[in-house]
Amino acid sequence: MYRRWAGWRNVDREGLGTMAEKQKIYLNWKPGTDEEGILWCYLDVADKSTNVLSSTVLEELEQIISAVESDLPKGVVIASAKENGFIAGANIDEFITTKDSDEALAYITRIHDLFNRIDSLGCATLSLINGFCLGGGLELALACRYRVALDDPKTRIGLPEVMLGIHPGFGGTMRLIRLIGAVQAIPLMLTGRTLDARKAKKLGVIDKIVPERQMQRAALNLIRKNAPRRTPSTLQRLANHDLVRPLLAKYMRSELRKKANIHHYPAPFAIIDLWEQKGGSEKGMLKAEAESVAKLFITETSRSLVRLFKLQDRLKSKNSDVDFKAKHIHVIGAGVMGGDIAAWCALQGLTVTLQDREPKFIAPAMKRAHKLFKRKLKQTRLVTAAMDRLIPDHKALGVEKADVIIEAIVENAEAKIGLFKELESRAKEGAILATNTSSIPLNEISQHLKNAERLTGIHFFNPVAKMQLVEVIHSAQTGEHWVDKASAFCQQISRLPVPVVSSPGFLVNRILTPYLLEAVALWEEGVPAEQIDKVAKKFGMPMGPVELADTVGLDICLSVSQNMAATLNITIPEKLHQLVDAGHLGKKSGRGFYQYEKGKAKKDKNMTISSLPDIEDRMVMRILNECVACLDEGIVEDKDLLDAGMVFGTGFAPFRGGPMNYALNKGTGDVVQTLNDLESKYGERFCAHKGWQQLDS
Ligand code: NAI
Repeated sequence: MYRRWAGWRNVDREGLGTMAEKQKIYLNWKPGTDEEGILWCYLDVADKSTNVLSSTVLEELEQIISAVESDLPKGVVIASAKENGFIAGANIDEFITTKDSDEALAYITRIHDLFNRIDSLGCATLSLINGFCLGGGLELALACRYRVALDDPKTRIGLPEVMLGIHPGFGGTMRLIRLIGAVQAIPLMLTGRTLDARKAKKLGVIDKIVPERQMQRAALNLIRKNAPRRTPSTLQRLANHDLVRPLLAKYMRSELRKKANIHHYPAPFAIIDLWEQKGGSEKGMLKAEAESVAKLFITETSRSLVRLFKLQDRLKSKNSDVDFKAKHIHVIGAGVMGGDIAAWCALQGLTVTLQDREPKFIAPAMKRAHKLFKRKLKQTRLVTAAMDRLIPDHKALGVEKADVIIEAIVENAEAKIGLFKELESRAKEGAILATNTSSIPLNEISQHLKNAERLTGIHFFNPVAKMQLVEVIHSAQTGEHWVDKASAFCQQISRLPVPVVSSPGFLVNRILTPYLLEAVALWEEGVPAEQIDKVAKKFGMPMGPVELADTVGLDICLSVSQNMAATLNITIPEKLHQLVDAGHLGKKSGRGFYQYEKGKAKKDKNMTISSLPDIEDRMVMRILNECVACLDEGIVEDKDLLDAGMVFGTGFAPFRGGPMNYALNKGTGDVVQTLNDLESKYGERFCAHKGWQQLDS
């Protein structure tokens, strides 16, 4: 990347000023001047379906801006020639290859120079936004004087850099604050939240939102008017006063600390720091932004989050060649899972029939679906349309019409076998037959079918609307094309499919179980639940294992553990049996390891983490050892998919990039040594799996 930028400054700007030069052929840009003398620059990144700001794209833009500077047009419009959107951001592949913060700073400084030149052009400048406009794309748009956006749900506007462990680095921190004020701008950057067109207009990020047919006219009107750029109100500007900034920054920091740990996620804290220290000067803020982001680029957090982002992309695009698009889904079992799976599919635009034994079992699912649609879709007409797509069907009339049939009835093999025998004879040819079972081996059901290869597991996680992961379960009997079709269906409904071999606990529950059981063992030894959970959260887990066990349900934890204990070397702590026998099933029964009041665990908030040895290691090493066992047994194809499964299915510390990424960064020798030490103290459950020897450190 650096090499391609070298010499960039030496571009001969003399002679580039003619109109012919402005309209010369570029690889990625299509500039052209209209009869009014306005230069329209359309970005159409070569060989990519989506526009991103790579160094070549920026290099060409630099040439265009040089030409513009020496022969000023009436105005400059930056637009996208791609139908799917404006610009999705910077080219991630380039910035992850930076070796150190000096190299990163050199890269950033060059882009700053370019965007500053756009910002100070002596003519009107405008970005015409026809869809997503994210990260570096929005930073380019912010360097323009005006922004017009397409009034359409596909328009998403934001600075999501914190999701990659960095913050805006192309001048966006200063320019968004300059445009809408710190109180509005900083929370957007801290959360990385994206806005729809209307919200962006309301906040002032966008000057005008219009339907597609009026986009060019709206751009022309703004350029012709040539009004000064928008500025925040006097009250909004007050937040930037030297005396106010430290007070506001202190408040923002204390709020942020409730949600993020500075050691795990330094980027949002850095945004507040640089604004507090340099927010009084535009130049000072730009310089500080470049220096700060250059340091963040090379952190372990950023590298891990970028890796996960790319893994997510891999899961999204893996089956793009599979020719399968479902229109109608039939879900059987309208309980916790079936009801929510049906609602999710309807939310994604599919027609769904939802079957249960009687209408009264379907009614609660319809109510929950309505709540979900209201929360996600907001507009009444869209909610009504989604409700129309979700059809209660206790007579099972949808079976013959469905492209995908998902079974989510009670966890009972006999019941599921009986159901699938009937479904197989009624389902249309080519329809996917899938079970959402969390523990029954696929073969136990498929061996009773005429065509055993047709059955797959499509194992969703609870809550369906929140957890992105779906395990696509297959056995030796399952046909490969059925696995591909099931995966393509998951992608169609915006979930991330990871193919997993049918074996006890599949992937995620198998790895989680030893971790949860170790937490119960610690509790049995007298370590308070609060302390166990605090240690896990400090490591980076979204929820402690004790509270997680209570939330899943101790009866479910016990049955999954028993299921796995039949084939794997697992000892179930006696206390788990006792609690379940006493009816203390966790959150749902009001008592488990914790007592619950109005659904909230009563915890001793003042409990400090004492120096009890090995708590973190005992829990984390059980996870890592089980991961290696799964890889060794080929439960999942590779360690990247395993990491994706654990992060998107359980929320495993994303800044660590998944358990295997963590283990390899730590060093396999170090991990094995820790396991050996733990084995000598606590017994053979810590015996290092033989698979560690095959992994590179
Ligand atoms: P649930 O008990 O909430 O719902 C099951 C529903 O199936 C009930 O509404 C019941 O009336 C209906 N049902 C039972 N027999 C039926 C039949 N023959 N025909 C039509 N409907 C029938 O159960 P839940 O929790 O939704 O679990 C369903 C499946 O999903 C199970 O296989 C479970 O292992 C699996 N699963 C559960 C997860 C969870 O967190 N609860 C997570 C992932 C998978």
